[in-house]
Amino acid sequence: MTTIATALRFNAFGLDNLKLETVPLPELGPRDVLVELHAASLNYRDLMTVLGTYNPRMVLPRIPGSDASGVVTAIGSQVTLFQVGDHVTSLFFQDWLDGPIQPTTGKSALGGSIDGVFSTAHVFPETGLIRAPKGYTHAEAATLPCSAVTAWNALVEKGRLHAGQTVLLQGTGGVSIFALQIAKAHGARVIITSSSDEKLSRARQMGADETINYRAFPEWDRQVMQLTGNRGVDHIVEVGGAGTLPHSFKAITPGGHVYVIGVLAGKDTAIDPTPILAKAIHTDGVYVGSRSIYSRLVAAIETNNLHPAIDRTFPLSQAREALAHMQSGSHFGKVVLSLRG
Ligand SMILES: NC(=O)c1ccc[n+]([C@@H]2O[C@H](COP(=O)([O-])OP(=O)(O)OC[C@H]3O[C@@H](n4cnc5c(N)ncnc54)[C@H](OP(=O)(O)O)[C@@H]3O)[C@@H](O)[C@H]2O)c1
Repeated sequence: MTTIATALRFNAFGLDNLKLETVPLPELGPRDVLVELHAASLNYRDLMTVLGTYNPRMVLPRIPGSDASGVVTAIGSQVTLFQVGDHVTSLFFQDWLDGPIQPTTGKSALGGSIDGVFSTAHVFPETGLIRAPKGYTHAEAATLPCSAVTAWNALVEKGRLHAGQTVLLQGTGGVSIFALQIAKAHGARVIITSSSDEKLSRARQMGADETINYRAFPEWDRQVMQLTGNRGVDHIVEVGGAGTLPHSFKAITPGGHVYVIGVLAGKDTAIDPTPILAKAIHTDGVYVGSRSIYSRLVAAIETNNLHPAIDRTFPLSQAREALAHMQSGSHFGKVVLSLRG
């Protein structure tokens, strides 16, 4: 059995402090599973974590990363959910199995409160894993645990999205591109924004119905109102935060859903709550999702034969370059780390 792994770890904030180190793995308990990890994917959160903006009081050293996939190589004596050889992916919150989020859920976040999965192997509790979708490569499976589950939780679990509704997506990062695929699979009309016309054309090829360049149109809510005959959209996957929420409140239809997810456009500005009450907007905070939510996503992926948009794959030894690539904002969809060679 593997007792050590090679992991990416940082002892102080900053990309330059990321180092590949040999780390011991914990003993396998009766309900634990040892997974040889093959691929991981980056989330914007990993960048914030390493830079120290996610949690400036994080206890270091820390192994970042919440999303990985691999093969089960050993199981504890009481494990019933998995067998050696199974292809699995990590669950973002190791302790959130079902039902609503709990006050303690955040303490089990991989790569945040506990060590993460930018590593060649990891010991998980069996309930901290989900089987990978059938036919998925390791790289594809590694893209799902955070951004895909978040997009699914917002639009489907909370929003009950249905055919004929209109969805607005912001930018072409991991969450938004999964949301595009999920929305189209539900028969929705999708409007997507980006800073890049080239990325907007790729989004159209993936099914986006309308596109807006938010650099060319900083008041993009006006374009949204034009495109919807002044009605506004039914759902907004809000990854911008303080800089985009005022526009989202203008672009949403009365009674529509704004899923508060990200802070790409800042988090410290005062927000006027008046439109929330005047338009009776449903504002739903979304924090990834539970094991049950993830398992329903896997079922939908298999039924609809959905495959993620992978921008680029870097070896683990170039994780710093991979995070810098994400920081530059030049990616479309997901950035992947290959953990084997
Ligand atoms: N609450 C949760 O559970 C949860 C889960 C996952 C992610 N998040 C958060 O959601 C956000 C997105 O995460 P991600 O992993 O999808 O990020 P990502 O892949 O790094 O997405 C970055 C992209 O967002 C777009 N963007 C940046 N600023 C924007 C702005 N002002 N308006 C519109 N689009 C903008 C850009 O797209 P273009 O290049 O096309 O312009 C950029 O390339 C982050 O804040 C992350 O922390 C939260």
